[in-house]
Amino acid sequence: MDSRAIGVFDSGLGGLTTVKKLIEYLPGEDIIYLGDTGRVPYGSRSKETIVKYAQQDAAFLAAFDIKAMVIACNTVCSAAYETVAAAYAMPIYEVVSAPAKTAVETTRSGRVGIIGTVATIRSGTYESEIKKIAPELKTYSVPCPLFVPLAENGRTDGSDIAALTIAEDYLKTLKDAQVDTLIMGCTHYPLLRDVIAKVMGPTVTLIDSGAETAKSVAKDIRTNKLPQNDGNAGSIRYFVTDSIEGFSALASEFLESKVSGQVKQVALE
Ligand code: DGL
Repeated sequence: MDSRAIGVFDSGLGGLTTVKKLIEYLPGEDIIYLGDTGRVPYGSRSKETIVKYAQQDAAFLAAFDIKAMVIACNTVCSAAYETVAAAYAMPIYEVVSAPAKTAVETTRSGRVGIIGTVATIRSGTYESEIKKIAPELKTYSVPCPLFVPLAENGRTDGSDIAALTIAEDYLKTLKDAQVDTLIMGCTHYPLLRDVIAKVMGPTVTLIDSGAETAKSVAKDIRTNKLPQNDGNAGSIRYFVTDSIEGFSALASEFLESKVSGQVKQVALE
């Protein structure tokens, strides 16, 4: 039994796709979420800047005496996972290896698509994770930088013309390559699931990186690798680095529960 919280961070709203699954799988755990909304997006920045931001995000969460940390951001995991993990003794979860493994297990055609931020795609992290397990698979990677601002602005509806037009353009090469499995390698992208699914069609399986990672955390708790909080119903506190209004409205809508009372604005620098 360990009643300390699990810390989760992302550049913005995207990590909530991971939080939603953590709540579903581990309703008894307390969660502390940090969204660096004042500096989102990370995905178009240099590796040096992403590493610096990641260190500040992790230090903020570690100050709460948490029992584990989930880096719910593929961009940070691709650029700074080793740096962050080396700085702390607690378990630090990344969001790349679990979805890569699921994609390998899911594909039947052997053609896997990967979408992510410019930094994630540039790093080649997903390709190397997949090649480690199944070198024979063919991977096709496309950066989709406009998906993050669409998600942060709530333009996620499956009939949103702007979102659909952008998605058609980004995903064309993956449709042409006839991938049957598509890794949404950015935690913001499941917010656009309806748009992405509409463009890719019903035969393509979409893999949610945050959800796959939440499954791994839940498995570690089930198998006592990570101590459980078997006290009361879990709670969540949210911290953001920009104003709380926009975040609270979109987060409440996405998590289907009102979050405004639990959100605080903080400065990381
Ligand atoms: N949600 C983040 C990811 O998983 C990054 C979005 C961004 O800040 O560009 O990559």
